[in-house]
Amino acid sequence: MPRKKIALIGGGQIGGVLTQLIAQKELADVVLFDIVADLPQGKTLDIAEASRVDGFDANISGTNTYEDIKDADLVIITAGLPRKPGMSRDDLLVTNAKIMKSVAEAVRTYAPNAISIIISNPLDAMVTLFQKVTGFPHSRVIGQAGVLDSSRFATFIAWELGVSVKDVNAMVLGGHGDTMVPLVRYANVNGIPVMEMLERKYNDAQKAKEVMNKMVERTKMAGGEVVKLLKTGSAFYSPASSAIAMAEAVIKDEKRLLPVCAYLNGEFGVNGYYVGVPAILGEKGVEKVIELSLIDEEKSALDSSVQAVKSLVADMERLGL
Ligand code: APR
Repeated sequence: MPRKKIALIGGGQIGGVLTQLIAQKELADVVLFDIVADLPQGKTLDIAEASRVDGFDANISGTNTYEDIKDADLVIITAGLPRKPGMSRDDLLVTNAKIMKSVAEAVRTYAPNAISIIISNPLDAMVTLFQKVTGFPHSRVIGQAGVLDSSRFATFIAWELGVSVKDVNAMVLGGHGDTMVPLVRYANVNGIPVMEMLERKYNDAQKAKEVMNKMVERTKMAGGEVVKLLKTGSAFYSPASSAIAMAEAVIKDEKRLLPVCAYLNGEFGVNGYYVGVPAILGEKGVEKVIELSLIDEEKSALDSSVQAVKSLVADMERLGL
């Protein structure tokens, strides 16, 4: 069977880590595109020269020519500016929308059958724009946010409870912004509710709630916490790993149930917007959105998050982007 081809648009911090992970996992051949001359060529050469020590067979190349992404099976997009300290993701809207438009036109031309995973921020708006410009079926255009936000939430829970993060299941829904919705009630350690474990740990229901609230707030602000420390850009290792989990699900047709930014046709009471929800990912992209029952408090948190997504999309349309 011929190897699959993954095109990465954006050869910055996330693009570099994506390349390395795809190569190390031998997921596919990689073409790394960037507008900066020589940058993707330099990064891919550097990574390829580790192939002997890492023991991977994958053709990886860098390019400044869109034609080279031709017939990619999967495209992962990180083109755009990252945040600097003090910026919200939404502050990137105008600059990144212009970049996303040009990227979408190129992907439409050269990789019309690809499944696309978008990472660029503000995520929910960028996914919406990319789909609109390409006209690709919604199921083939997916945003990466929920896998990362959920991984952050799970990491904080594991640290708090002193358990392996491998046993923690936690999911975050909604938009990729401050209104995201970490689902406390569904968070568990191999099936045991996290709240029950916290209550046992502290022997105090109120204290357990306070500790959980802190983890929820830290999850919502986790991207900003990293930006503040890095000072020159935003998180890149964890967003790359999260997109790779999605790419692997698509390339290997795994049917994984992951929280992703998917287009809703009435699910969760939302019509015509991209929002973070659980979905089955396989070779066709988003193969099914999975609904789950939410209590009033969770529903209203998700509604607020959907409102934030709607107003971001409205801003984009008002600005003619
Ligand atoms: N086409 C292709 N690539 C572009 C374009 C364009 N029109 N404009 C900029 N780029 C490239 C830049 O040259 C840079 O190499 O996008 C790359 C972005 O890389 P970084 O600045 O290192 O940003 P990174 O940390 O990788 O984040 C990328 O993902 O998480 C989001 O908020 C983050 O929007 C940001 C994106």
